[in-house]
Amino acid sequence: MKDKITLVKDTIDKDDVDNLIKWLKTYPRLTKGPKTIEFEEKWSKWIGCKYSVFVNSGSSANLLMLYALKVMGKLKNDKVVVPALAWATDMAPVLQLGFDPLICDCNLENLSVDLSQLESIFHHHAPSAMILVSVLGLSPDMEKIVELCKKYGVTLLEDNCESQGTEFDGIRLGNFGLMSSFSTYFGHTMSTIEGGMVCTNDKDVYDLIKMLRSHGWDRDLDEDAQRKLRDKWGVDDFSALYTFYEPGFNLRSTDLQAVIGIKQLDKVDGMIDQRNENFYHFLDTMKSYDKKKKVWRPTEHKESFTASFCYPMIFKTKKDKENAVKALLKNDIETRPLICGSMGTQPFFISRYKRHETTNANIVDECGIYVPNHPKLEKEEIEFICKTVIDAVK
Ligand SMILES: Cc1ncc(COP(=O)(O)O)c(C=O)c1O
Repeated sequence: MKDKITLVKDTIDKDDVDNLIKWLKTYPRLTKGPKTIEFEEKWSKWIGCKYSVFVNSGSSANLLMLYALKVMGKLKNDKVVVPALAWATDMAPVLQLGFDPLICDCNLENLSVDLSQLESIFHHHAPSAMILVSVLGLSPDMEKIVELCKKYGVTLLEDNCESQGTEFDGIRLGNFGLMSSFSTYFGHTMSTIEGGMVCTNDKDVYDLIKMLRSHGWDRDLDEDAQRKLRDKWGVDDFSALYTFYEPGFNLRSTDLQAVIGIKQLDKVDGMIDQRNENFYHFLDTMKSYDKKKKVWRPTEHKESFTASFCYPMIFKTKKDKENAVKALLKNDIETRPLICGSMGTQPFFISRYKRHETTNANIVDECGIYVPNHPKLEKEEIEFICKTVIDAVK
């Protein structure tokens, strides 16, 4: 019998486990410590940004980015743009923190925001910020988005939880906004089991994020930053241990996860290249199998490199989607809805606001799915997935 084709396979292998055990055998202090700092520095170097803060999930990274914006107190209003096609925890912190969400439809090329609708929202609502999602490793048009954010004075936050390693114009995503988030959850580009990262090139934001991650205290700041805070508030070094400058959370991870992450970073380039190769094999196979163009294919921005996550498909009708899902499941191939479908139609949104329909995201919601892509996926498995789908919608 054929093996089940799973959405993801663990990227933590025997080497990673042996390395973790070796480190554990040194009987280190099991908390957040020097390995976390080493992982953050290595991550920053890899992304090409100045600062990174390791947290316990990508969702926590999103929460921290939005909360930091609020705490900085520089926003002109509470309006934040959230893509219709996003993850639940892009919208959730917007609601939790009392921001006003403005939903922007997706485009049907790279599944990021529809640029003309985005400009119209910027023009008519003058929001303070937007959280941009790079869907399934496909790069948005970063040049245009950065230009629009500058033109309308909108602070850009990047959610790259599905796109670690995606590049635009030779620059890795994570360097375009004031802050950016990543997820290292099992099955994402690389894994620390659970985990996330906030990146920034701004030292003040970096210091604030570190305080907000850990209770609001100053312990993770450098001596200079600590001195400034302690002098400002007249705090001696002993009292500083339990002095809290901001109303923080505890969203830390631990050195255990960091040790795994450090090792994963050594091989992440190879895993990303394999995902990218698989992505092109999906595109080519779908092109040759799907002569009648019954299934939508993503279009990369020409300046981008796609660190593909899973492979998206959108069908002409809901019935076609249902038939494809049925055939995939029957053949032991895992599949999922195309992330949240349409944020404005999710129960947690409708129960607070009224249902918000968006043309393209509604199509994605009704007719979209994604299928597996991971570094261990075989070419024959990709061909089998594509054949199964095409046979189901003939
Ligand atoms: C776009 C996006 N943002 C945020 C997250 C949340 O990441 P985590 O599962 O690490 O909390 C996910 C999770 O899949 C995601 O796809």
